[in-house]
Amino acid sequence: MCGIVGYIGEEQAAPILLKGLEKLEYRGYDSAGVALYNGGHLQVAKAKGRLKVLSELIEGGQKTPGTLGIGHTRWATHGAPSDINSHPQVSDSGKFAVVHNGIIENYLPLKEHLIRRGVNFVSETDTEVVAQLLEYYYKGDVLDAVIQVLRHVEGSYALGVICQDYPDQLVAVRKDSPLIVGVGSGENYIASDVPAILERTRDIYRLNDQEIAVLCRGSVSFYNMDKEPVQKELCHVDWDVSAAEKGGYEHFMAKEIMEQPKVLRDTISPRLHNGRVVLDSVSLTREDLEKLRSIYIVACGSAYHVGVIAKYVLEKVVRIPVEVDIASEFRYMDPMVDEGTLVLVISQSGETADTLAALREAKRRGARTLSIVNVVGSSIANESDDVLYTWAGPEIAVATTKAYSAQLAVIYLLTIYMGDLLGTVGQEQYAAYVKDLMRLPDLVEEILQHKENVQYLASLFFNVKDVFFIGRNLDYAMSLEGSLKLKEISYIHSDAYAAGELKHGTISLVEDGTLVVALATQKALFEKMMSNVKEVKARGAVVLGLTTEGNKSIEQTADHVMYVPEICDIMLPSLAVVPLQLFAYYVSSMKGCDIDKPRNLAKSVTVE
Ligand code: F6R
Repeated sequence: MCGIVGYIGEEQAAPILLKGLEKLEYRGYDSAGVALYNGGHLQVAKAKGRLKVLSELIEGGQKTPGTLGIGHTRWATHGAPSDINSHPQVSDSGKFAVVHNGIIENYLPLKEHLIRRGVNFVSETDTEVVAQLLEYYYKGDVLDAVIQVLRHVEGSYALGVICQDYPDQLVAVRKDSPLIVGVGSGENYIASDVPAILERTRDIYRLNDQEIAVLCRGSVSFYNMDKEPVQKELCHVDWDVSAAEKGGYEHFMAKEIMEQPKVLRDTISPRLHNGRVVLDSVSLTREDLEKLRSIYIVACGSAYHVGVIAKYVLEKVVRIPVEVDIASEFRYMDPMVDEGTLVLVISQSGETADTLAALREAKRRGARTLSIVNVVGSSIANESDDVLYTWAGPEIAVATTKAYSAQLAVIYLLTIYMGDLLGTVGQEQYAAYVKDLMRLPDLVEEILQHKENVQYLASLFFNVKDVFFIGRNLDYAMSLEGSLKLKEISYIHSDAYAAGELKHGTISLVEDGTLVVALATQKALFEKMMSNVKEVKARGAVVLGLTTEGNKSIEQTADHVMYVPEICDIMLPSLAVVPLQLFAYYVSSMKGCDIDKPRNLAKSVTVE
């Protein structure tokens, strides 16, 4: 999704902006641009395509002097990717330049209104309306103009604004789209995400909705929509800079897959004390849990797949009915949630627009909300009653791996915690679960040590056209993730099916040479899965099985097998996902795809 960087200080701004934008490339974009205050006027440079096209155009920033500027990477929504539609967008006379993430939903009537008053528009973007409105309402005070504009626009936005009359001021504001303010010495920054400015500062303010930041070289002030000053708390980011670098790996995805043992340790260990699960940030009491009639889980994409696993696990262990919904469906389906419902929201970024809207809808209906989020201080984290953070560090590759694993680990912690409070998990079982949780990081490490086996299997199949992932129960939930991982980064068509459903239609697609990845880690359903494997083999499928080390008999049925170590059934997804991630990664690499930035995808989907 689009990226924003802004700088005001003593150094030349353009190289700093380019460097910051580079760090946001992972979010996905199709064009880029910068605007600089340069000797009494605003100088703008924009280019469709990769950042390096822009960088070459302005010779790494040398052709755009100035110590105040804003930069943007655009992921097209309104108007095709083009030089003109790229940001910054500029007002008619060139007085204002604006970068924007999000969508101005009522831009058309606003645009028509301005056109009737003689304003010339050059782009197809919704953002240009903001630049034009700023000039329209400007009476000499940028802050006043910004407030006026905000009163008229509807939708979501993170905005960075500079004005030709103000060489010493950068104004920023957000609503439903993330934006942070970085504080340096004699210099300040804005950015849509921390990695953009991490090399320059670790002291940040997170803007809340409709808080306006006015950045000067030596100060930052905040205002509300009534132009009253707002006091904010400075946060210190303790991420390691190297966490946002590739660290010798060819791709961020490879690095993030390999980081999973550490991520699991970081997420699990601090929550285990003397063999007990301690979730300080969860305020749900036993009485609260006893009053719950149902749990709804809402999320998107891979986070939704974690939700599907959580449904099986929570219902099995905690015995409360769980419904899992895709956030974009939940928000419009008149969901049956109220005070008797716990809504569990799962999101790596904490900014996914549909998930955030679903959370708000749940709160509006009186539900108790608990979120599982990676980015500290993100909107979803801020707005939930309780938050459980996945301490996975920054995830840069668009396809999630380590955050997914951390989310699963949190689901297990929460399940054990709730099962204990409700008395559905006996002490012996409790101790066994805790022991297995503690083994997870080492077992994942063990699987990663044999990654070459998966690489070999990928070399056999990287040319296939269609893949079906099948499984039952938790293996079905895993199939969803295995299939998504493969298709999103390798562009191979793949689908996931509950193995028992095959006969109800899908099996007609299986023909000679079709690759079927059969997940059979769940002991109780192993034989049933073998029957399904035989069914597809009888129709000519080539079967790649995935099971636990004890199930060697699978070799009599499947053509190739990936093994994972034994652990309790509910935690097997944490192990099974690793070969599936590796398989997708190697296939994509062998096909020469852009692994970290697959086409058409963005890391953080902050528009609906
Ligand atoms: C797939 C992937 C996406 C995200 C989804 C939700 O690899 O990463 O499907 O899981 O866009 O994003 P978050 O978790 O940030 O809400």
